[in-house]
Amino acid sequence: MGTYGSGFERGLRLILREVAAAQQRGEAPYSPAQMQAELDELTRFRARPPFYPYVGAGLGKGASMMAADGRWVLDLALGVGVHFFGHGNPDLIETAVRAACSDLVMQGNLIFNREYAALMRTLLANAPAVMNHCWLSLSGADANENALKLLRRWRDGRPGVIAFRGCFHGRTTAMAEITDRPDYRRGQPRTFPVAYIPFYDSGDKKSPDKSLKALRRILRSEGDRMAAFVVELVQGEAGFRPAPREFFVPLFEECARAGVPVWVDEVQTFGRVSELFATEMLGLVDYVSVITVGKMLQGSAVLFRAELTPDPGLISGTFSGATVAMAVGRRIVEKLVGEGYFGPHGREKRLELLCFERLERLHRRYPQIVTEFRGVGAMIAFKLGPGSYEATRGFLQRCFKAGLALYYGGGGRQPTWVRAFLPAGAITDAEMDRAFAIIERCLKE
Ligand SMILES: Cc1ncc(COP(=O)(O)O)c(C=O)c1O
Repeated sequence: MGTYGSGFERGLRLILREVAAAQQRGEAPYSPAQMQAELDELTRFRARPPFYPYVGAGLGKGASMMAADGRWVLDLALGVGVHFFGHGNPDLIETAVRAACSDLVMQGNLIFNREYAALMRTLLANAPAVMNHCWLSLSGADANENALKLLRRWRDGRPGVIAFRGCFHGRTTAMAEITDRPDYRRGQPRTFPVAYIPFYDSGDKKSPDKSLKALRRILRSEGDRMAAFVVELVQGEAGFRPAPREFFVPLFEECARAGVPVWVDEVQTFGRVSELFATEMLGLVDYVSVITVGKMLQGSAVLFRAELTPDPGLISGTFSGATVAMAVGRRIVEKLVGEGYFGPHGREKRLELLCFERLERLHRRYPQIVTEFRGVGAMIAFKLGPGSYEATRGFLQRCFKAGLALYYGGGGRQPTWVRAFLPAGAITDAEMDRAFAIIERCLKE
């Protein structure tokens, strides 16, 4: 505030009024044919069509996004979990416009403006107190690469990683090696040891024991080659698979005894459960050395304990983030912690209960179709029949045609799930009703 004087403030009010009016008018910039032409063109550019035949107009409102051809779609895909406050949030637009007038479009780790420290300050002030430091980066995979380097350095160059079956940690070269999707690294060589243990299976009482035994076996045979144990506390790409605290504690204690640090990948869970960090929701802070965040932050960061402080040069890079993304990311954290999203009576918990009620109803009505549902907070998933990839994709395309964007998770060796990322900062109860009405209609088809 105040950087440019009162003329700026008057101009800003005018801009924000114009944006709101344009959202209200909702005039489509393209005809359907023009939008199709653009989709064809970008399919040629990418050598692959987009998942949905959609180009945004940039005029979305709340939980709804507007296609360039004027069609409105209720968005529960959120760019795979990025737009928690939905589309066209006035507060975030105002933050973005202010930041966009900066002398820097992109900030780096050499020359940066005030947004750089401000984002770190807000992030660390709201992070578990044991996380003393952080480094900013662009994508979730970037933050994870930094985490891996810090941990390998701390472990004197031990190369390996212990991970969960079904995990997803990104698509950079190293992260693709850890991510449990061989089909995502076809043609890529294996360059370091990755040992998997099974994730929690709520349908198998022996699941915690099986995972613990598998971990012990790995620690015994290759513990001395392992830099870290990387964990998603709610598996995201696997289809919002949660696990209770009691599942993780013995595993983390076993790692502590073996001197293997725990790294929690919160790229997807950050801001989306009943606390800002799932690590805090599950009371696991004491066991964790490193946390990575991304997506909803509009950038990414690795948070770490003081003892992991890297040598100069180990992690850095030209970019730390776009000025707009840094300012908006910080505002998002402020809104999350200040506007009643967390805690047992917070908005996220309420939405979780509301979704579970509706899914329970669908499950009772169509037990052969909606066979299972699960999730936590703003991450809700359900399975259609046995979870066939093709059938789920077909269902998603039908929903999209009917005006609802969802996404999928799982696949590969696991069943496919329908994932709903809830825009908790935007969706109304009436929109939730509309989403479920579309889901039910498309189930019947
Ligand atoms: C848990 C987790 N880690 C890392 C990533 C990678 O993030 P990005 O796609 O921003 O590189 C993702 C993305 O889905 C994720 O869900």
